[in-house]
Amino acid sequence: MNNFELYNPTKLCFGKGQIAQLNTLVPENAKVLVLFGGGSIKRNGTLDEVTAALGDRKVSFFEGIEANPSYETMLRAVTQVKDENIDFLLAVGGGSVIDGTKFVAAAAKFDSEPWDILLKMGANVSAALPFGTVLTLPATGSEMNSGSVITKKAENAKLFFGSVFVYPQFSILDPTKTYSLPEKQIANGVVDAFVHTIEQYLTYPVNAAVQDRFAEGLLLTLIEQGPRALIEKENYDVRANIMFSATMALNGLIGVGVPQDWSTHMIGHELTALFGIDHAQTLAIVLPSVLREKEAQKHEKLVQYAERVWNIIDGDNATKTAQAIAKTEEFFHTMGIKTKLSDYGLSESDIANIIKQLEAHERTALGEHQDIDLATSARILRNSL
Ligand code: NZQ
Ligand code: ZN
Repeated sequence: MNNFELYNPTKLCFGKGQIAQLNTLVPENAKVLVLFGGGSIKRNGTLDEVTAALGDRKVSFFEGIEANPSYETMLRAVTQVKDENIDFLLAVGGGSVIDGTKFVAAAAKFDSEPWDILLKMGANVSAALPFGTVLTLPATGSEMNSGSVITKKAENAKLFFGSVFVYPQFSILDPTKTYSLPEKQIANGVVDAFVHTIEQYLTYPVNAAVQDRFAEGLLLTLIEQGPRALIEKENYDVRANIMFSATMALNGLIGVGVPQDWSTHMIGHELTALFGIDHAQTLAIVLPSVLREKEAQKHEKLVQYAERVWNIIDGDNATKTAQAIAKTEEFFHTMGIKTKLSDYGLSESDIANIIKQLEAHERTALGEHQDIDLATSARILRNSL
């Protein structure tokens, strides 16, 4: 196991009825800005519940954060924060709303051009407004981590920043708030959490038995509960297990002390920025191809994954790893997510453009060995056509 530090200050309030806790979690004299998306929280009653719990506090609203939050939109929120002297932010929604809020929190305390936060991946952030979240879509783990992904539409650039200053102070996770999710978003969430786990697990062994067993537990839970969530619309236990899995998949825990491979996410972000394909769909397209391309380097962990997660115990190792990758793809299909670029209308002629963007964003040495160069990325994409 590699050396590591583990720090996570976000308080989780999990379960039905937890939104009422806002009354104690948000400072009594705060000037609060509630940020949200396209209106799902109005339709499912979450906004009313949040407003009631905030009581007599001064509350303003910022509505309209889009999926894959844009820099352009979030700058308007920064202006509102400054104009109204807001001192506490509350994100109510999915990963996009939370990521957008993290950016606002940092940009409100940032003196120069805020896009620099993304260009420097957050290394230049030295303060942020305090904020909390009410999660309505289990997927990204943003509710308990220090990362955020923002898109500058003008440049088709979807970039990441991370900073210790943008951990949420608290996150409220009420599984009943996910009952209103359309099937596609449930599926997206399960696949996103699954791939987060894989990217911190499927590299090479470093004898990190605890992290491995945690990761395998999350994968098994998502494989078991994910398809049920599509059918059993209001099964509290199923939603609770998925919600907690997604949070634990990317709150830092399973990634400590182990090598990581974020190539699927990095290539996937370009697909979203260029073609508007949903985040999780991009992962379902790219991951199987990454695993096949890197079968040799990932061999030992792939065998472990085959045996422990998919219970593939017969056959030689090469058969096991091939079957495990096929099972992974099949799982995405069971969740209703297609896994080929051509399923989304892309063809060979689009690949050069994707590679150009990877180069522009300096994503030229990806993977746990930093050896996924542009030629390898092109091969990965070609093999997922
Ligand atoms: O905008 P509203 O009307 O709220 O509708 C949203 C949106 O259309 C809807 N939704 C959310 N909760 C709902 C609901 N509809 C009905 N009932 C509910 N309870 O779902 C749609 C998608 O929401 P979004 O927030 O975009 O989805 P998700 O949580 O998957 O977030 C995706 C974003 O997170 C980034 C992605 O790149 C993408 O931009 N990521 C952030 C990460 C992080 N911060 O650590 C890591 C991830 O890998 C990921 O990159
Ligand atoms: Zn993701």
